[in-house]
Amino acid sequence: MEVYFDNAATTPLDPEVFEAMKPFLIENFGNPSSTHSHGRKVRSAVESARKKIAELLKCTPGEIIFTSGGTEADNAILTSALLSYDIRTVISSRIEHHAVEQTLHRLADQGKINLLMVDTDEKGHIDTSHLEDLLKANEHALVSLMHANNEVGNLLDIALVGELCEKYKAYFHSDTVQTMGHYRHDASKLKVHGMTAAAHKFHGPKGAGFMFIRKDRKIQPFVFGGAQERNMRGGTENVYGIIGLAKALEIAYRDMDAHREHIQELKSYMIEKLRENIPGVDFHGDSANADKSLYTVLNVCLPESDENDMVLFNLDLKGVSASGGSACSSGAVTGSHVLGALYPGSRRGAVRFSFSKYNTREEVDYAVACLAGTGNRVEAARVL
Ligand SMILES: Cc1ncc(COP(=O)(O)O)c(C=O)c1O
Repeated sequence: MEVYFDNAATTPLDPEVFEAMKPFLIENFGNPSSTHSHGRKVRSAVESARKKIAELLKCTPGEIIFTSGGTEADNAILTSALLSYDIRTVISSRIEHHAVEQTLHRLADQGKINLLMVDTDEKGHIDTSHLEDLLKANEHALVSLMHANNEVGNLLDIALVGELCEKYKAYFHSDTVQTMGHYRHDASKLKVHGMTAAAHKFHGPKGAGFMFIRKDRKIQPFVFGGAQERNMRGGTENVYGIIGLAKALEIAYRDMDAHREHIQELKSYMIEKLRENIPGVDFHGDSANADKSLYTVLNVCLPESDENDMVLFNLDLKGVSASGGSACSSGAVTGSHVLGALYPGSRRGAVRFSFSKYNTREEVDYAVACLAGTGNRVEAARVL
């Protein structure tokens, strides 16, 4: 049996999305910057995609800038916002994705920013009273805190953080790569200045994403050499990627409630089965808490064992694709900076299962059996 439980890494393309992209791979090949009819047809499709995304996010089309994905969007917002507003202090956390964490550390190492880290509580949530203390002492800072953590799934109260940033005149960037397409972001209400998205996290194509940049807090261009994307990002647009991105987001919003219910049900079922089958099992971060974690992510904390380093490898051998990374970086498993920050010195194993609309209860049963060491028996029973 082959099971894919790594949907936080990437999701399979929805066939409906592929159908929407196809004409832009073959017949509609014009360059959107060309003024002739071939170009105009494609320009109009790109602008319709932008309009569709803006409608879903309740913002204006001019606030959506297409990028190659989440990493580029995070890099662009951070680097350009600091330059545009001459910001010297950045407040972030130890559990940000590398796209944010490494960008900020590089700037700090170059002496361009003073980087402050906000504390996390025992479940790995951002300590908002510590954040307020830091903001109070450093007005006009840039705050970069992710909406949901890609490893443990913890959700940030993005509305509350936005209010705090407004109170202390901070520029607020939130990496929304793991929540875009899974939650409804209302840019007309959230006090966030920059958000980011990658289409492949919600059944769209890889290499396509966008950044939302609030129009009253514009930033300088990031890629030079062309007037594309309203002079913000030079380079011929990834047209079929953009078409697929907009279609994938449209489908995600259309079917969100049903998919959320299905996925949350699978996640709860997996928690129950793991507790039944693995004595001493626990969950990293707040991923077992349905109200405070991403419904697509479950980070399993295994009891200490010499075999923990091999757990992902063994799951892979049985056809289960999941991911992980323990707190320490020994052996076959690469360490996770997130688990390292939240559980320093822990020797417990970590497996991240992340779900999509395509997963089933049967797949959960199989993955749990594999993790509990009875996978071969389950597979044999299935063959019989
Ligand atoms: C939270 C978060 N931010 C940023 C990214 C980077 O996205 P991409 O790989 O599309 O550049 C990812 C992808 O894993 C992510 O999970």
